[in-house]
Amino acid sequence: MEFSLFDQRRYPTVDVRSGYGEWVGEYESSVCDTMDLRLLDGLSLSWDGDVLDLACGTGRVGAWLTERWTERGASCIDGVDLTPEMLERAKDRSIYRSLTVGDIRDTGLPSSTYDTVVQSLADEHLPSLQPLYTEAARLTRPGGQFVIVGFHPHFLMQGVPTHYHRGDGEAVGIESYVHLASDHFVAAVASGWTLTNFTEGLVDDDWVAVKPKWEKFRHHPVSYAMVWSKRS
Ligand SMILES: C[S@@+](CC[C@H](N)C(=O)[O-])C[C@H]1O[C@@H](n2cnc3c(N)ncnc32)[C@H](O)[C@@H]1O
Repeated sequence: MEFSLFDQRRYPTVDVRSGYGEWVGEYESSVCDTMDLRLLDGLSLSWDGDVLDLACGTGRVGAWLTERWTERGASCIDGVDLTPEMLERAKDRSIYRSLTVGDIRDTGLPSSTYDTVVQSLADEHLPSLQPLYTEAARLTRPGGQFVIVGFHPHFLMQGVPTHYHRGDGEAVGIESYVHLASDHFVAAVASGWTLTNFTEGLVDDDWVAVKPKWEKFRHHPVSYAMVWSKRS
């Protein structure tokens, strides 16, 4: 569904590449780790082997993962993103084996290459989920996993789009869509995935400590994580 069906804020809206190209300087100081990294921590997954970070942005997930790998030995991570300015920041971290400017629905990367494909905080920008799940399945080795973490559709339906603030304080929305959990299920199963874990993050004390204005959203689901396994 189009986010405009639920929009209560009427921010001017820009496309993904323009939006993240403009947001890049303030991006990391405005995205809370409680949104996605806390959920990733809670999944207790094995991240051994080759990993692809779809919509890697500035490399937050890569940095989180590299810290864990350092404790247990080396693995490799590649990244893909549509916004060159975001990828430049990821490059500065010197943790990715390769970084590619491209679309996560058609990366051009070789098939059956990765043990884990991960994607955090980007699915709301896709009009349809099917191309994402199909491409993730193509890129993953048999027996591999697709870990997807996202902004909860409930929050979008509360009228809050993915947005940032310009230097003059103006709020700007980035083109967004609402995908229900059943949309994920239908797209994933059609691409050969089996759901092995599904969790949701709520607005709680940790959130309100960082964003006091979100007291009004306390107990609402704000993010989700799903783990999909590819049949061997
Ligand atoms: C909210 S950021 C998330 C970045 C990173 N995963 C993180 O957790 O910080 C969303 C990212 O998705 C990227 N993106 C959105 N749609 C995309 C697409 N179709 N193909 C590739 N990247 C896309 C944007 O360029 C942006 O860097």
